[in-house]
Amino acid sequence: MSALKPAELLHEGKAKKVFRTNCPGVVAVQYKDDATAFNAQKKAQLAGKGLLNWEISARLFEALEADGIASHYLGCLAPGWMAVKEVAIVPVEVVLRNRAAGSLCRQLPITPGTVLEPALLDLYYKDDELGDPLLTEARLKLLGLLTPQDRSELERLARAVNAALQKRLEVIDIELVDFKLEFGRSSGGELLLADEISPDTCRLWNTSSAEADGEERILDKDRFRKDLGGVVEAYGEVLKRVQGMGPAPRQYQ
Ligand code: TMP
Ligand code: ASP
Repeated sequence: MSALKPAELLHEGKAKKVFRTNCPGVVAVQYKDDATAFNAQKKAQLAGKGLLNWEISARLFEALEADGIASHYLGCLAPGWMAVKEVAIVPVEVVLRNRAAGSLCRQLPITPGTVLEPALLDLYYKDDELGDPLLTEARLKLLGLLTPQDRSELERLARAVNAALQKRLEVIDIELVDFKLEFGRSSGGELLLADEISPDTCRLWNTSSAEADGEERILDKDRFRKDLGGVVEAYGEVLKRVQGMGPAPRQYQ
């Protein structure tokens, strides 16, 4: 553990807890084993998931940083724990889809697996009680959630993350089907990538899977959503490949 000490709990989400620390402007995030789907209608405890998502996220935040994309991530504290900059989370979830899957195929007549070129970018209002509704241009304006400048910055960053992650994951035989990002504003007013990047928040397909269309290629939370089993094993496979990208994530000093 570094000299940074977690203090009181500031916020508990579905997959992480956020703690104040002895360092102003820095908070400690602990990744939990809880798994939820369909707005927490489905819940389980998956032993080891927290540790897997912690290390996958830390490594992917570092990879993105090396690719010029800043985030709230500062470094690791102990297994399952990371130090991040304190940000005010923007209540907008940015979802990028390179292929059709999940809610897109439930809501629109699109065949699952259809390649979306350019990637489809949608914004959702982050509110569990409302079920994270899709935001239209007009609704975004109505709520006054983002200035036009913030919105284009957010979309620019999300597309940059997509390009960087696709490239990084392709090398380790993983296809980035879709993902959700969250952003926060730092005390200095900068929009920073926040939350996590893990098989909980990305759809990841194994491109070295023998069965090109089969469920065995699924390496993400769809294994839990669809009761396919082997959830932790799939996340473990993602971590093993992501570990191949470079050295262990840095300790926060
Ligand atoms: P969806 O197909 O259910 O809309 O999900 C799109 C992507 O966003 C998928 O990679 C899972 C991720 N996601 C989250 O991380 N959190 C959420 O609450 C939802 C609904 C999706
Ligand atoms: N994360 C959301 C939930 O907890 C939805 C999902 O990922 O399917 O319910």
